[in-house]
Amino acid sequence: MASYYSGKRAVSYNQSWKTFSQKTLAATVAAIDLTSLQDISQMQGRQLRVLDVACGTGMLLAQLAQRLPEAELHGLDASADMLAQACQLFADHPRTHFVQASLSGAAMAGLPYEPASFDLITCTNALHYLDNPRAVLQGLQRLLTPQGQLVIEDYARRGFPFPWRPFEWLVKRVSPQYIQAYTLSEASSLCQDAGLNVVAARKISIDALWQGWVIRGRFDPAVNSST
Ligand SMILES: C[S@@+](CC[C@H](N)C(=O)[O-])C[C@H]1O[C@@H](n2cnc3c(N)ncnc32)[C@H](O)[C@@H]1O
Repeated sequence: MASYYSGKRAVSYNQSWKTFSQKTLAATVAAIDLTSLQDISQMQGRQLRVLDVACGTGMLLAQLAQRLPEAELHGLDASADMLAQACQLFADHPRTHFVQASLSGAAMAGLPYEPASFDLITCTNALHYLDNPRAVLQGLQRLLTPQGQLVIEDYARRGFPFPWRPFEWLVKRVSPQYIQAYTLSEASSLCQDAGLNVVAARKISIDALWQGWVIRGRFDPAVNSST
């Protein structure tokens, strides 16, 4: 299927989506429980391990690198052209690893990592591309360490009086990979169904067209001990 995230569109992504990215990524960073991450690092005497799935050009990882300068950073994306920019952005960063991979409903979300590998997993502006989001979230939960957190953000499906149907039709024409956008309530349910404890959830106001939401979920030991 044709991807929006290749060639010229990938190269101009940061500029084309500048304001949108500033707002959504700022809300994502604000939702991260940095204190608990610092506690993990201190109590376990090791570097934090952070994974940004569908990392695109690496803009969120750049912000995380500033706030968690000692962390080992991992990014993955399905698009080689988006990843190329992320790799370039982090060319001088010693503890950064990028992989081209696709999120799927397979074990560990189809990703090449061991269970309990990451203290923080982020996913921004990509849930609407997943055909089995519950299974992907379940797989990502398995990649979290016992104190780990998953912070997920996306744009929201809007209701009346916003003309969502024609808007969505347009979105799908521009980006054929689009599957479905979720309300905050639907996304929270998806996270809970996937076995995450939802500890924070809020709406984001982006601009006149786009609204969004951000959710922080925690690893649920009960789910993981029973599987
Ligand atoms: C709107 S961009 C967001 C990029 C970045 N997360 C951000 O917020 O700046 C969506 C990204 O999701 C990636 N993507 C879409 N479906 C994916 C999948 N199944 N697995 C991995 N990446 C995917 C695309 O290649 C693209 O880079």
